[in-house]
Amino acid sequence: GLLFCTEHPFGHLIDTLQSEQYEERRYFNPQKLSDVRYEKLPFCMRVLLESTIRKCDGFYIKTDDVSSILDWQKQQNQAEIAFSPARVLLQDFTGIPAMVDLAAMRDALAKQGVDPNLVNPRCPTDLIVDHSLQIDYSKCAIQGPPSTMDESHGATVRSPACRPSPRGSSSSGSHCAGQRPGHRGGCTKASCSDAPSGRSAAVQIENTPLLCPFHLQPVSEPDTMIRNQEMELIRNKERLQFFKWCSKTFKNINVVPPDINTVHQLNLEYLCQVVQEGEGFIYPDSVVGTDSHTTMINGLGILGWGVGGIESEAVMLGQPVSLTLPQVVGCKLVGTINPLATSIDTVLGITKHLRQAGIGGKFVEFFGPGVQQLSAPDRTTIANMCPEYNATVSFFPVDDITLQHFKHTSTDHTLVVLEDYLKSIKLFRSYGDQSEEPQYSEVIEMNLSSIVPHVSGPKRPQDRVAVTCMKEDFINCLNEKVGFKGFHISKEKQATQVPFLHEGAEYNLAHGSVVIAAVISCTNNCNPSVMLAAGLLAKKAVEAGLMVKPYIRTSLVPGSGTVTHYLNTSGVLPYLRKLGFEVVGYGCATCVGNTAPLPESVVEAIKQGDLVACGVLSGNRHLEGRLCDCIRANYLASPPLVMAYAIAGTVSINLETEPLGVNSEGKDVYLRDIWPSKEEVNHTEENIVIASMFKELRSRMEKGSTFWNSLESAESALFPWDPKSTYIRCPSFFSKLSKEVCTPQSIEGAYPLLFLGDKVTTDHISPAGSIARVSAAAKYLQSKRLTPREFNSYGARRGNDAVMTRGTFASIKLQNRLIGKTGPKTLHIPSGQMLDVFEAAERYQRDGVPLIILAGKEYGSGSSRDWAAKGPYLLGVRAVIAESFEKIHRNHLVGMGIAPLQFLPGQNADSLELCGKERFTINIPQELIPRQQLITSTGKSFSVMALFENDMDVAFFRHGGILKYVARSLYSL
Ligand SMILES: *[C@@H]1O[C@H](CO)[C@@H](O)[C@H](O)[C@H]1NC(C)=O
Ligand SMILES: *[C@@H]1O[C@H](CO)[C@@H](O)[C@H](O)[C@H]1NC(C)=O
Ligand SMILES: *[C@@H]1O[C@H](CO)[C@@H](O)[C@H](O)[C@H]1NC(C)=O
Repeated sequence: GLLFCTEHPFGHLIDTLQSEQYEERRYFNPQKLSDVRYEKLPFCMRVLLESTIRKCDGFYIKTDDVSSILDWQKQQNQAEIAFSPARVLLQDFTGIPAMVDLAAMRDALAKQGVDPNLVNPRCPTDLIVDHSLQIDYSKCAIQGPPSTMDESHGATVRSPACRPSPRGSSSSGSHCAGQRPGHRGGCTKASCSDAPSGRSAAVQIENTPLLCPFHLQPVSEPDTMIRNQEMELIRNKERLQFFKWCSKTFKNINVVPPDINTVHQLNLEYLCQVVQEGEGFIYPDSVVGTDSHTTMINGLGILGWGVGGIESEAVMLGQPVSLTLPQVVGCKLVGTINPLATSIDTVLGITKHLRQAGIGGKFVEFFGPGVQQLSAPDRTTIANMCPEYNATVSFFPVDDITLQHFKHTSTDHTLVVLEDYLKSIKLFRSYGDQSEEPQYSEVIEMNLSSIVPHVSGPKRPQDRVAVTCMKEDFINCLNEKVGFKGFHISKEKQATQVPFLHEGAEYNLAHGSVVIAAVISCTNNCNPSVMLAAGLLAKKAVEAGLMVKPYIRTSLVPGSGTVTHYLNTSGVLPYLRKLGFEVVGYGCATCVGNTAPLPESVVEAIKQGDLVACGVLSGNRHLEGRLCDCIRANYLASPPLVMAYAIAGTVSINLETEPLGVNSEGKDVYLRDIWPSKEEVNHTEENIVIASMFKELRSRMEKGSTFWNSLESAESALFPWDPKSTYIRCPSFFSKLSKEVCTPQSIEGAYPLLFLGDKVTTDHISPAGSIARVSAAAKYLQSKRLTPREFNSYGARRGNDAVMTRGTFASIKLQNRLIGKTGPKTLHIPSGQMLDVFEAAERYQRDGVPLIILAGKEYGSGSSRDWAAKGPYLLGVRAVIAESFEKIHRNHLVGMGIAPLQFLPGQNADSLELCGKERFTINIPQELIPRQQLITSTGKSFSVMALFENDMDVAFFRHGGILKYVARSLYSL
């Protein structure tokens, strides 16, 4: 259609971008609508609008969608619109079923004599083969020595690196250094407990994200780790070979290979373009992805959010996402950030503010002069945190800082195009300019000066103390009776000073003296700026003539080789060393700090004076007096503040008003004198750290991983399915693919497979966890000669429809009214036998009996899961009659050709006196239209509402699902 622009409903909006610097580019210019409402739209709505204009085809996307978005002021929260994102981002876990479906579609079309090469993703797709497979097998075990690694995939071994983080620190993320790249569950309880292996990956969408967009990976790793990774790759071979075949065969798909050291989040950024080019036009980038960190890129002005498996598959196949036009909260940032606040303080401060604002389900867009103070990594971190404050996305329109950031991934040339283009459609922001402010649904304001740096302690991470109140707080703690905030030191003993000798010199210890200081990049490594700030502070301290007292046990635990690398490149390492901060190791195992004992004389002095000595460290946990039992107060602080307290030698200090020490000329030196400015940190971060991270990533992407490169895979258009494989199998979605669409057939004489109550979740419908030893799936796997320890999880076997169909409704928590007890069983009504759900369905199918499901309210709630619709489809379920449906699950049912039918208001199975053992006939008219009432009869008859929302839904149902719809559309090519 786009070749003939005159036919395009918005062809008159096409404009060209011209300059001597680059070739002419064409684009749709919404400004040519000459509609005053355009300039009042929030920027994120402008992105939606442009896409809708460009993709308007009268079927998937209608001119009404364009009008609705333009009329956003009135239509927000009401109109449903269709949105076609610029690309899809899949990770391997969700990528497997989607790509397996496409491969099966090729088979089906080839059987009908159609060229299988026609089957490709329609929407550009990035498939990142990186982390889920690893989660699948390795989890925390990878961090232990090989001997602790259980062969039965996914068994977890508690390694010291994986202790659950203490409660109360969850908002600061819980992830540890030395953690696998892209393996984000690292230190969370879920991934280290005995939860079945597939689960942690399967629930990613619903996981709260961790704090960090930048996971830094070790440059050089211990041999054992590399060996483990190789083992893992070998065990994943079948699936990797499949992905490799995909990468060779399909057009429009970019497979990012499993480079063992690739940083997942950087991948995301590496793939980011801000402006995309395709079909002869340039347009703003936008994305939907199955990755829980998809929202991160909104920090770079790219609109995107996470979706479920079938939705992403549907987008990949060319279908738009439908959404209710969202409300957009404008978050106005004013004021200046306290210079002592680090990036982490800032991010957490903003997150907290947004959480209190109650944003639930809305879009947030940042504006106001304060935004200029946030670096690109800060923005992506804030955007990444949006599940924390329950926003759908947190959008930062592109400005100079964003452009600066894209220097790492783009050429100067493309940056010019990008800037000109964004300016020409008014998608470029100068945050300082208030004249161009959009109208938001509501505005919340945040004064950035309210962000006060804190430390936590002296005993628990949740006890936060503003740095300015530290001295006061410590003195209070001395007075208070023994407890979380008390040491009960009598007044007369509070001034105790104990002199002692260390390496021939005399020193004094007092209450509040720092004896351990550890700069650890446990949570902090994610945002390089904080470690850099510590390094730059060290440099300035040394230059000012300050030192750290030699009896203080100091250590530097960078978290990964990369941190060391950038501390080194930025030239601060020698200064850190000078202050005693030597690299002592990597990884969270080292979070316990320095393993070397305190000097004997220090311990003696502490005992002698019964002193409250202090440890200061920048980890995110372990306030359990584990440092050393003679240290009673432990504070967590940002890396630069750890440096500061180490230099001061005490926590009983007001860093704002009291000097840290004196220089060689005897002059007082205050913290403010040596605190690195934001500009310095930023400069080093942008130019050294991020630049080198991108450089490294680029070279890795070019090189690829050795394992991947050496992996053999077929060159054929059709995938050579291995009948022995238990991970990858050609699914039977296309088994009865006819060329012609049948007219809709009524569903006649259907039995209810299940009679369910309220709130049946996708986890009941398609559990992702372990495969029970007595289950239909287990029988199948045993027939393939697998032992229970080789079963792996349902989540890991998503590429095998035989396992997944058998796993449908295999939840032990399923409550089925047909059998009156909990469990994955049902009544085969004609025979009266109680069977596994799969076996009953199989019998019905053998006898040619269609199936339905009866359910209560909110059927299909919980996280979005593709197999929760695919499974029932393969079991032979034709319709679900429920009181209400979870919205995304309803879409999924329609996408699989299952009719979502709703009892009329006030009615349900009980009010209609259904016992669930009747046979049902659902009358489906030839001329089915959206939202039509259908007559259902079981002897008596009642009406139900068919929840087909639009023509597209009806078309999918008529075709037996989107897969068949797309396959048939290829016949006509
Ligand atoms: C932000 O707060 C600071 C300190 O309370 C105040 O001085 C400043 O005027 C405020 N800025 C704005 C724009 O409200
Ligand atoms: C988040 O928002 C959703 C949708 O608006 C709401 O239903 C839910 O209760 C909110 N959750 C929290 C934790 O605020
Ligand atoms: C960071 O530095 C870049 C130049 O290197 C500059 O464009 C940008 O405005 C700075 N950002 C902040 C937050 O200071």
